[in-house]
Amino acid sequence: MSRRIAYCTFGCRLNQYDTETIRTLLERDGGWHTVPFKEAADVYVVNTCSVTARADASARKAIRRIHAERPDARVVVTGCYAQRAPDEIAELPGVSLIVGAADRARIVEEVAGIEAGDLRTAVSPVTEARTFLDVPITKMMERSRAFVKVQEGCNKACSFCIVPQTRGGSRSRRPESVLAQVRGLVERGYAEIVLTGVDVGDYGRDLAETRPLLPELMRRVLAVPGLERLRLSSIEPSTVTDELIELMAREEKFARHFHIPFQSGSDAVLERMNRQYTIEAFAELLERIAARVPEAGIGTDVICGFPGETDEDFQQTFHRLVELPFTYVHPFTYSVRPGSAAETLGDPVPGDVKKRRTRSLKRLSRDKNRAFREAHVGRTMAVLLEEDAGWTDNYLRVEVSGAAGRRGIVPARITGLTDDGLTGEPAPGA
Ligand code: F3S
Repeated sequence: MSRRIAYCTFGCRLNQYDTETIRTLLERDGGWHTVPFKEAADVYVVNTCSVTARADASARKAIRRIHAERPDARVVVTGCYAQRAPDEIAELPGVSLIVGAADRARIVEEVAGIEAGDLRTAVSPVTEARTFLDVPITKMMERSRAFVKVQEGCNKACSFCIVPQTRGGSRSRRPESVLAQVRGLVERGYAEIVLTGVDVGDYGRDLAETRPLLPELMRRVLAVPGLERLRLSSIEPSTVTDELIELMAREEKFARHFHIPFQSGSDAVLERMNRQYTIEAFAELLERIAARVPEAGIGTDVICGFPGETDEDFQQTFHRLVELPFTYVHPFTYSVRPGSAAETLGDPVPGDVKKRRTRSLKRLSRDKNRAFREAHVGRTMAVLLEEDAGWTDNYLRVEVSGAAGRRGIVPARITGLTDDGLTGEPAPGA
């Protein structure tokens, strides 16, 4: 067999990062040569997501399509769906290997052991995944911005979520390894680093000896010479401490952007979700952020149609979202996840009601984001360019005219709005 391999990734940034980890291992230790997904390969790796029923269906469709178009190729399936339901995947045509979260460190040998016509399943209980799979990644898909995974798994128990079952308990990457990767990426020209994890705010609690927690890790990363911007990915409200907010307020390189899942504006729904905070506590947190970092971009996720969510619960959610200083909202339509605690609650909210609620939050998000963007017109903002468009630190996308081919952070004068972003031109002296 020649050694061409291609990758297809579903789900979140973490999953994309995991694909990079797998690719690095298979190139470095397995001698595999990566080709674009659309090209002919000997092996296709499908890294799946299982956040919704639709995510599962997308993965099944992709696997079927690969087999239909390339019947001689071997298909390797990994990721959250593979961990959650290996039996469902085993029934699909053309699958040669299923690799679970705790088994990824062995992926090179597992792929090497694929035999024609065989199906191997390497899916151990994810509770056995105790260590952080630490692989130095040097190449990323984007050219200016690089993601660095610092934490894996989750010890929380939100009733709608299956991620603890698919990724295991919370575990942190050693700070020296995080810093070495950040230094390497900055040396290769990445201006922005995004620290990411399933529960990134839990970083460091399992690191016995030195135990730097997230703010300390961020201070060390911010001190890396040449780094221009540091961003934090989605973080749970209980882990947004005053120390972290203060660091954002003081450190210019710490991007003024939080993504904090809200999930519902009804305390009754939050309790059934086992979210461990009240609406008042969440609102108070946002007040603290807005007071210290007034122009912060603050995004959130909301689930529409969780079991038992009444019209009144949804109205409360809607009004809270209107009042709170969110700059964008990602609404998700609820679907039951087999194996989650909420599975026993069924899925009683009718599909059309769930969809209507989701649509109304999408509209609200557009309105809130537009108002936030309008407030930036006429100002000069630092934009991290990737070709001729890029991001401000508070997470607004700007198309900068006359900047094609430029990279790195450029000051741009904001001239107007696009459908979902801004337009700008290089500021004098840029
Ligand atoms: Fe990410 Fe989907 Fe797993 S969102 S954590 S790949 S269930």
